[in-house]
Amino acid sequence: MPRQRLAWWKAVELCAAFGVLAGALLAGWLRSPPEPRAPARASSPPATVALVEGFVGEAVCAPCHPREAAAWAGSHHQRAMQPVNEAAVLGDFSDARFTHAGVSSTLVRRAGAYVMHTDGPDGALHDYEVEYTLGVAPLQQYLVGFPGGRLQSPEIAWDSRPAAAGGQRWFHLYPGERIGPTDPLHWTGATENWNSMCADCHSTAVRKSWSAQTGTYATRFAEVSVSCEACHGPGAQHVAWASGSSDRRPASHGLSIALDERAGVSWPRDPATHRPARSRPRSSEREIEMCARCHARRGLVHEDVVHGQPRATTTASRCSMTSCITRMARSRARSTSTARSSRAGCAPRA
Ligand code: HEC
Ligand code: HEC
Ligand code: HEC
Ligand code: HEC
Repeated sequence: MPRQRLAWWKAVELCAAFGVLAGALLAGWLRSPPEPRAPARASSPPATVALVEGFVGEAVCAPCHPREAAAWAGSHHQRAMQPVNEAAVLGDFSDARFTHAGVSSTLVRRAGAYVMHTDGPDGALHDYEVEYTLGVAPLQQYLVGFPGGRLQSPEIAWDSRPAAAGGQRWFHLYPGERIGPTDPLHWTGATENWNSMCADCHSTAVRKSWSAQTGTYATRFAEVSVSCEACHGPGAQHVAWASGSSDRRPASHGLSIALDERAGVSWPRDPATHRPARSRPRSSEREIEMCARCHARRGLVHEDVVHGQPRATTTASRCSMTSCITRMARSRARSTSTARSSRAGCAPRA
């Protein structure tokens, strides 16, 4: 009896150990930004989210599709969001100084870290350690950690164009404006919050995970940047088919969207006009709809994107949001809404 019991417990222990291991591996799949200095993170979402969603990651796709993996590596999609490191950071952090509207910021390396010494929510200057880069060209922005799982994007950005074109300098996104710490557009506020304003388009399979109860985010993504499955959709079923022995080929090889509308299409020049023309008319909106999820001015309505379904099921025109931002700006005594609405992309409304 004791022996049996022991064996039983051993089995439970082993299972638990495997469970923890598997859990840790799954959690690794669905990476999350590291906690900022002030820890106030809500508990992690269930690690199995990755499996339910079926995202497997570029590292799984690459061995079978080396050509596509090589084309993606180094692309702006691959670099859309990067953990901070020498190769990722384009901006000058060699004790560079930048003064805007009375705020003198310093951009500096400190013990290996990239630090922005700039105005915080109290208006005083503080050190903010950069955790991620967003974008490559013609500008790059930076993300710093805040309590409650937030990442915020300073409005001091790096102009990454060549010096000859006027680049290689720090600039402010709202030139000529003083945006004080109580302004809703201050970088520490909601409008420059990565979790709700940027993440969805710069990473793959973002789950914002906002808790209204604690007022915190536990934002997760399957991959940090715009990876294979951001366009092709979750790949688990495809990989299961490709690595299995079944002769039966699922529709679209198990991918939820077929990006094949250009198969067999060429663009010969019209002999009369010398303009290239599509060899046969496009008969599907699938690819455009998929790209437009990120390449259009839109607001997110629902984050569970189903690749291949019309975009309107998860996003809506951005202009309604823009008019909201415009109104917000206008409601302030000093109306500077033009700069804001033009940044947001829609014409300012009268
Ligand atoms: C075990 C190998 C394997 C892995 C892993 C794999 N694929 Fe494939 N993939 C294939 C094979 C085989 C085909 C079919 C090629 C053919 O029929 O010409 C294919 C086809 C495709 C196609 C074309 C589909 C179509 O309908 O024409 C896309 C897109 C694709 N894979 C994307 C991916 C992505 C994204 C991943 C990672 C999530 C991935 N693959 C992982 C083997 C693999
Ligand atoms: C998940 C969101 C997302 C999807 C889907 C997406 N893109 Fe992008 N794309 C981005 C982001 C973000 C950048 C900017 C990356 C950067 O600057 O680092 C970008 C950059 C680009 C660029 C480079 C522009 C430049 O600055 O040189 C091109 C071209 C592009 N995308 C085309 C496409 C096409 C075509 C599709 C569809 C087949 C597509 N994208 C789908 C988010 C997306
Ligand atoms: C609706 C999707 C979407 C959202 C939301 C979004 N971006 Fe982007 N971002 C893009 C795309 C697409 C590009 C590439 C545009 C291009 O090059 O034509 C891009 C490019 C960039 C670039 C590189 C500059 C450029 O023009 O290529 C930076 C920097 C950037 N985004 C920062 C941010 C920040 C900061 C936020 C949040 C405050 C944000 N983005 C929110 C889609 C988005
Ligand atoms: C920005 C969106 C986007 C990203 C990111 C992306 N793809 Fe694609 N992929 C496409 C589109 C669109 C096509 C169809 C191209 C065409 O028809 O010419 C395609 C085609 C393919 C094909 C079929 C090629 C063929 O010859 O039939 C494979 C395989 C593939 N992608 C794999 C990958 C893998 C692996 C990754 C990541 C390393 C990846 N893709 C990243 C949009 C994307």
